Amino acid sequence: MAYRTPPEIKTVGVIGAGTMGAGIAQVAAQAGLNVVLFDLSSEALERADKGLRASMDMLVERGKFSAAEADGIYTRTNYASELQAVASCDLVVEAIVERLDIKQKLFCDLEEICAPEAILATNTSSISITAIGAALKDPARLAGLHFFNPAPIMKLVEVIKGLATDVSVVETLLTLAKGWGKVAVAAKSSPGFIVNRVARPFYAEGLRLAEEGVAEPARIDTLMREAGGFRMGPFELTDLIGQDVNYAVTCSVFDSYYQDPRFKPSLMQKELVDAGWLGRKSGRGFYSYAEGKPVSANLEWDEIRFGGVFNISSAVESAAIKPLLDRIEARGIEIPSRTEGVDGEIQFNKGATLVLTNGQTTLERSLEEANPLLIQMDLALDYGSCESLALSTHPECPEEVWREVCAMFDLLGVKTRVVKDMPGLVVMRTVSMLINEAADALHYGIADAEGIDAAMQSGVNYPAGLLAWADKLGTAYVADVLDNINLFYGDDRYRLSPALSQRALIDAPFYPGNSH
Ligand code: NAI
Repeated sequence: MAYRTPPEIKTVGVIGAGTMGAGIAQVAAQAGLNVVLFDLSSEALERADKGLRASMDMLVERGKFSAAEADGIYTRTNYASELQAVASCDLVVEAIVERLDIKQKLFCDLEEICAPEAILATNTSSISITAIGAALKDPARLAGLHFFNPAPIMKLVEVIKGLATDVSVVETLLTLAKGWGKVAVAAKSSPGFIVNRVARPFYAEGLRLAEEGVAEPARIDTLMREAGGFRMGPFELTDLIGQDVNYAVTCSVFDSYYQDPRFKPSLMQKELVDAGWLGRKSGRGFYSYAEGKPVSANLEWDEIRFGGVFNISSAVESAAIKPLLDRIEARGIEIPSRTEGVDGEIQFNKGATLVLTNGQTTLERSLEEANPLLIQMDLALDYGSCESLALSTHPECPEEVWREVCAMFDLLGVKTRVVKDMPGLVVMRTVSMLINEAADALHYGIADAEGIDAAMQSGVNYPAGLLAWADKLGTAYVADVLDNINLFYGDDRYRLSPALSQRALIDAPFYPGNSH
């Protein structure tokens, strides 16, 4: 009989008391539910109990919970070494070892033990929900409930529908997770779900840029933080996650999508894994760590060796560069002629024309526009506050010409660096690829636009929703950038998602009503 009536959830069973299971149990107990935490290993249960008490002590100390509330949480959390203990749970969440056969066996056992209407959920991050469900008599009751580490802190929960999952199960879990204070987003069972799929280019483009010698890892990290507005750059973040873990997720997504070049793993990262340079946990990754802290890299920026007084002669204000022009004027730098236009540019006294990168190399673009003094700048989340920026020039651009541009940025408090002339610079290339992946997840119905944007903001702390960011830049602009990168490399990796190319034809936004 097909599963149809989800129960009211009062008691939650959690299977596996490791990193994730212990965290999920804490989330449920904090929300006032009774929890039964089961593990085969009694040491794991003891560790979970100690961990919960340490975490609650800290929360009580910080005034987030009273001592009485903490006691309530301990009372509601029960530890079990017999699976039978979860028999009366309304929901059972599995967080055991990441192996299909072992998970299937567990869910078959749970089907025998639990009430037929009890919901079964898995916290798997890489195994198909549909595949796990295939072993069940009633796969309609199984869904993915994917928390992020650490579960009590990270806001996002992806609720994943397998092919056979009943919609009422997904809805019950979405409501439940929202009630626990989480951002709950519905997703379709597919490799990497939302976050682990859409985030791939964040790492992949950073690694590719470093492999191509566009800039060194520490500089890419700095630019992604100080211009892109991301909390961490790809190298510091993969050092934190573990190079082995990040590489394994990439390989898994790549294989699951039948070697789609968009997800191709990086040889540079594999070298690190082979060397055992796994990041913070091994003391060395892209950075070296002394006492858990990265040994700071001494980054040099372009020195300001501009002799004369620089002058801007004119500017065309597009929506994209308006905040930069406002910042220039607020600093007291005169822009004698400021007109509005679609293609923004700033014209300097020594002849430089500063423009936002369009995904062409500066050499290509300056030949096409017959302007050897063209200088492209990278994307910034907000030109009004960014602290560093990458630039690229024609190889024969005279030094005094580009240094005039650097001198202007210096006065604004923005560090600049002319990097190797490759398409899309650093932030624009990465963000365009992230947008493309978000668009593709939308195209294939993995989640809706709001869900994808919310997932990336609360699952990996992105500074803006990717599809909303695309609307701000203009879908036609983002598509143009990617088309230009694609043309340069001739690599299917940079092909446009139909969801982006179709909108780009008429510069339509992802969110109706958004304009740029
Ligand atoms: P972990 O290794 O910290 O804990 C797994 C626990 O499961 C261990 O305590 C082990 O004794 C227990 N266990 C193994 N087989 C069992 C069985 N048959 N019955 C009962 N207990 C069993 O693993 P972690 O990191 O907590 O991961 C658990 C699941 O969560 C995996 O599916 C993983 O892919 C997923 N996940 C992990 C994240 C992470 O950052 N660690 C993030 C999101 C999902």
